[in-house]
Amino acid sequence: MEQFKNSFVAAVYSVMEGRLSAHEILLERPKSQEMGDLAFPCFRAAKALGTNPAQLACQLAQSVVIPNAELAASGPYLNLKLGPANRAKTVLGHFLKKSGAETVNDDAQTILVEYSSPNIAKLFTIGHLRSTMIGHALARTNKYLGKRVQRLNHIGDWGTQFGTLLAAYKRWAETDNPKLEKDFQWAGEVPEKRRTPLFRLFQLYVRFHHEEEKNEDMRDEARAWFKRLEKGDQEARRLWAWFREVSLVEFQRIYDRLGVSFDSLDGESFFEDKMAATIEALENSGLLEEGEGGARIIRLEDVGVQTPCIVLKGDGASIYATRDLAAASYRKSRYNFDKCVYVVGSDQVLHFQQVFAALGKLDTWFLGRMLHTPFGMVKLPEGKMSTRKGNVIFLEDVLDEAVNRVLAIIEEKNPDLANKHDVAEMLGIGAVVFFDAMNDRVKPITFTWDRVIALDGDTGPYVQYAHARICSVLRKAGGGWIEQVRPTCGVSAETAIIPFAEADLPEDMDGLAEPAAQSLLFELAGLHDAICAVQRENMATALARHLVAIARAFSGFYTNCPILWEENTALVRGARLSLCVATARALRQGLWLMGIKAPEEM
Ligand code: ARG
Repeated sequence: MEQFKNSFVAAVYSVMEGRLSAHEILLERPKSQEMGDLAFPCFRAAKALGTNPAQLACQLAQSVVIPNAELAASGPYLNLKLGPANRAKTVLGHFLKKSGAETVNDDAQTILVEYSSPNIAKLFTIGHLRSTMIGHALARTNKYLGKRVQRLNHIGDWGTQFGTLLAAYKRWAETDNPKLEKDFQWAGEVPEKRRTPLFRLFQLYVRFHHEEEKNEDMRDEARAWFKRLEKGDQEARRLWAWFREVSLVEFQRIYDRLGVSFDSLDGESFFEDKMAATIEALENSGLLEEGEGGARIIRLEDVGVQTPCIVLKGDGASIYATRDLAAASYRKSRYNFDKCVYVVGSDQVLHFQQVFAALGKLDTWFLGRMLHTPFGMVKLPEGKMSTRKGNVIFLEDVLDEAVNRVLAIIEEKNPDLANKHDVAEMLGIGAVVFFDAMNDRVKPITFTWDRVIALDGDTGPYVQYAHARICSVLRKAGGGWIEQVRPTCGVSAETAIIPFAEADLPEDMDGLAEPAAQSLLFELAGLHDAICAVQRENMATALARHLVAIARAFSGFYTNCPILWEENTALVRGARLSLCVATARALRQGLWLMGIKAPEEM
């Protein structure tokens, strides 16, 4: 469609004889294929010319000529419509050519995506899935669109909560059981799979918070331990390092399962020794002022943020925000980035407003480069989750439950399926990840099992099923068709563009003249816009919805246009199989950008 876009813009531009600039000619995608393939909304142009949009559309319809395309005015829109054969050739041509290599131009922008960022010694909850998968989709999509991407995981491995953990460990675990690593004292019923060091630490953390409410002294105990840690006390450091290590092992297991990876795991502790330089720079530029109780703060009212950013507490201790300031300065010098996107929950909106405003005051370089993409919290029907209180849903339980439910369905419907367990894993995780993406990023999600696991309707498995069904047709067709939807070389977590080989265009497009085939072609043509929307909106919702639209359109095509029917001519059969190939490639690529795998059979 790219060549038609260009000729459309060029033709309108030349008819306007310089009265409109090229950037005022922005094309859209019409709502349905009956209206055409590309639309030029005339509102802005009409305003610039002092006429009304519908009149301008009519006038342009008469004077703009584009070979092989029809132009028509429809109210304030000028629509370009391709004939059925031309549309088929254009869309199939795009999907059947060899996929572009992942090369980055020298002048490509550098985008940092910071996501997941879990806290050490806490378990992955369903809430972490949001940051992890939104960030993962943003990283892949930006890479797909040619940006240079750095995937950062700002692990929460520093802060007063480690004082709590150390105190809890010393109080109970060590005395109960000096070798926590080997042999745990489990509090309560703990399922086998949960018997990990990380879970034991989590239990200790929850218990401490529970008991601390009745015993004030425990707070001082925790504070004292954090002091020791900050001062570099050997025992505190050794335990902290061990807490960190067992946590990372558990996190990695989840990342492997989700197919997520990072370029950097430099967490908050990494910025410990980098804060002094930042504080000094702030001090030298005169930004630090005396706040309540001797704290050092930056006032931000003049830049629209009412509450100041605290840099040092009254006792001289640094805080979470201090580490973020240091991290941003470090990233500036390390990556010289164009944009840094923080995928963090909406409960931290104020925090990022403060940090970004403070950075902008310190160094104007930061202005316009920093972006927080908040997302709504996952709520339980009974209220907000809290690790302290222990009422959380663990991500792993959600994934396991989803996989088990899918497996039960497979056992019932397709018990002879090869690699049942692998397929169930792809579908179960796909269901959870897709559910998450279908929810608007900013609104809170209320988590209920039924809504996550539902396998019909606008779900991941529905889209995955369309892909598997196409693969089954291609397998039956024989003659190497199935090969055309398989990547030509290995795909790893680093891959953004799935490598597909060049495939032949059908010789004749008559088999694709039916409206159902044309609708599918129209939806396929919209995939690129949906991918661009992920980048623009910083969430995968538009892509998820569009993949459902493609899967629906495929279903219509499959019902109305027999593919392997023996009465089809070879030409009709070939054209329809090519459309199947294009659709499978589109679905697989789209799902992949969301972090979801597409099985060939299910
Ligand atoms: N670890 C934090 C949490 O779990 C999120 C970190 C977000 N990133 C940042 N640069 N502050 O709440």
